[in-house]
Amino acid sequence: MIFRNPIKTSRLILQPESIADFPRFYSMTIDPEVMKHIGDGTVFHWTEDVAFEKYQERISNQGNQDPGNLAVYRKDMNQYIGWCSIGESRFLKKMELSYRFCRDSWSNGYATEAARAILIQTFDMTCIRQIFSCTHPENSASIAILKKLGFVLSYHIVSRPINREMPVFLVTREAATP
Ligand SMILES: CC(C)(COP(=O)(O)OP(=O)(O)OC[C@H]1O[C@@H](n2cnc3c(N)ncnc32)[C@H](O)[C@@H]1OP(=O)(O)O)[C@@H](O)C(=O)NCCC(=O)NCCS
Repeated sequence: MIFRNPIKTSRLILQPESIADFPRFYSMTIDPEVMKHIGDGTVFHWTEDVAFEKYQERISNQGNQDPGNLAVYRKDMNQYIGWCSIGESRFLKKMELSYRFCRDSWSNGYATEAARAILIQTFDMTCIRQIFSCTHPENSASIAILKKLGFVLSYHIVSRPINREMPVFLVTREAATP
């Protein structure tokens, strides 16, 4: 994890995930609208206990990930609203930006604000030259965010488990919009 200090934006704080975030994290994971464009679109059928164990594992591993995975909080309510991550994707085999937000926070520009912050910090703090992001072609909100951040369509890749062609977007450090 390269982000030793919280990243602050005008409305948000991004910092390492904590066990206190679990209830809101879990509610996201079992929300069909949130999971609609993730994998094959089915929600995780984990019991709360299983999900809690997986979340504890995720938190104990977060120090090993590079650049890192950060929880996103609204400053005004001190509330967890989702997460943003930049790390090596096992699927793309490239450095990938990903994010997921609780439905009650959508359409306020929070995902764009958080993703921009983690992207700019990553380019500032590392020598990474390009970052990719893969999203379902129907995920218009996610594609809108990527375009606002300076990503452009780079290529398509077939996701074997769901047997679908997915667009892969790319941003270079020169093109990232601060
Ligand atoms: C995708 C997601 C992160 C968007 O979060 P958000 O906080 O609502 O995003 P923002 O408000 O920053 O920006 C969304 C943009 O998409 C636009 N948008 C929203 N729904 C849209 C739709 N159905 N069609 C086209 N554009 C849409 C919004 O107008 C906004 O653009 P604007 O600022 O130019 O108006 C959120 O819906 C989410 O967590 N979805 C589930 C997980 C996911 O899909 N993650 C990405 C896959 S890798």
